[in-house]
Amino acid sequence: MTPSKKLHIGMSLAPTWLSGDAWRRADSGVEGLYGSDFYLDVALRAEQAKLDFAFLPDSLFLNTGLLASGTGFASLDPTLLLASIARETSRIGLLSTASTTFFPPYIVARQIQSLNWLSNGRAGWNIVTALDGNANFGLSEMPSPEERYARAAEFTEVVRLLWESFPYEALKLDRESGLFADADLVKPVDHEGSFFNVKGPLNLPRFGKTRIPLVQAGASGAGRDFASSVADAIFASTPDKAAAVDLRADLRKRAEQRGRKGDDIRVLPGLSLYLAPTRAEAEELFAETNARVSRDRCLATVLEMTGLDLCDWPAKRQVKATDLPPPPETVRSRTHSQLLRRMIERDEPAVEDLLRRPEVIGSAHWLVVGTPSDAVAQIKDWAAAGAIDGFVAFPGGSLDAVRLLLEQVVPALGDLGLFRKDYSGSTFFEHLTQE
Ligand SMILES: Cc1cc2nc3c(=O)[nH]c(=O)nc-3n(C[C@H](O)[C@H](O)[C@H](O)COP(=O)(O)O)c2cc1C
Repeated sequence: MTPSKKLHIGMSLAPTWLSGDAWRRADSGVEGLYGSDFYLDVALRAEQAKLDFAFLPDSLFLNTGLLASGTGFASLDPTLLLASIARETSRIGLLSTASTTFFPPYIVARQIQSLNWLSNGRAGWNIVTALDGNANFGLSEMPSPEERYARAAEFTEVVRLLWESFPYEALKLDRESGLFADADLVKPVDHEGSFFNVKGPLNLPRFGKTRIPLVQAGASGAGRDFASSVADAIFASTPDKAAAVDLRADLRKRAEQRGRKGDDIRVLPGLSLYLAPTRAEAEELFAETNARVSRDRCLATVLEMTGLDLCDWPAKRQVKATDLPPPPETVRSRTHSQLLRRMIERDEPAVEDLLRRPEVIGSAHWLVVGTPSDAVAQIKDWAAAGAIDGFVAFPGGSLDAVRLLLEQVVPALGDLGLFRKDYSGSTFFEHLTQE
């Protein structure tokens, strides 16, 4: 990327700064977890730092096995929570997550367009085909990835048609003539497809002419094809720079093959940040936070993602590429399984090291454990290498990591010319397309 190009930065409001044992800290504020003030505080700080967007991932199941030690992914509905944040903020984009596997497209089109109205054009949709939760929607198993992506493509097309079905120009609100709306401009979508039959139109006009940014998560071949055909950005898991460089080059190529520009698809990896004033403190924060991540859980993750059972392996034994069995037929996320296999093939780590890697203990996100300057140096390096167009920040360990990110890392990126000093637009799409 050229040095003058600005990064696009999102702030995850999923409270990763409470994960592991961090929620047990006296100042964690964990009691506020299911109210909106807790998240609003971080969203307001992110807006002060001029970030592109605040982001909420989502899942539609409860992992009761994790509840004894942490949230188990219990969370508020993301779009409702962002609607409450919309009223208290004025510039920052609001990126919500909605699954194309479980929801009907009419509902998602309406919810996201409602968020767009409630925020004056700041809504975005993170499109996920979901990892789990089928039993909550009458499905005995998760549909295959191919079916999920075929459905996602049709779903997204229907949502876009619905958004266009009631154009803003149709709203006349002409008191004198008494014409509320020009119904001739409001058209049904009359969609009959493999997965959905939707007549339309949507029962809500489009907000102005603003485009709602589409973000996609999932980076298997099918996921990349889908993202490169419709998404404005991909939310990625790239634990190392080479993975990000490869993904970004590949997505840009795929977008160009589909008649789009490479710059139309922005690669925004998750960036997990354990920040402290000194490296030693940051290391301690990381170790303390993850002290109770159980070895059994890590072993189960490796088994599920690679088919490799390391239960009886000594801690120091190296895991070699040749130890890897053929990939299991079904995995929850091919993206994450491929990243883990790739790391084993490349690094051949000892068992004890493997079980501490972000691909195993976290979501395979890029991980920085260090000072704010360390974070700035790494971000600058990845940007110069053409690995990223920005990132989605997931601070870990404590609320201090959130503060150090927003009060030190982001302004330092601004000083380097890598990030905006102020907003120039008012909608999420304008932030995302600002050079
Ligand atoms: C970085 C990343 C973030 C994701 N976030 C979510 C999420 O918030 N909710 C969800 O249900 N699925 C999420 N997923 C799952 C994907 O939507 C997708 O279903 C899964 O990765 C399988 O697709 P794949 O075969 O392309 O990997 C995420 C996947 C990735 C890689």
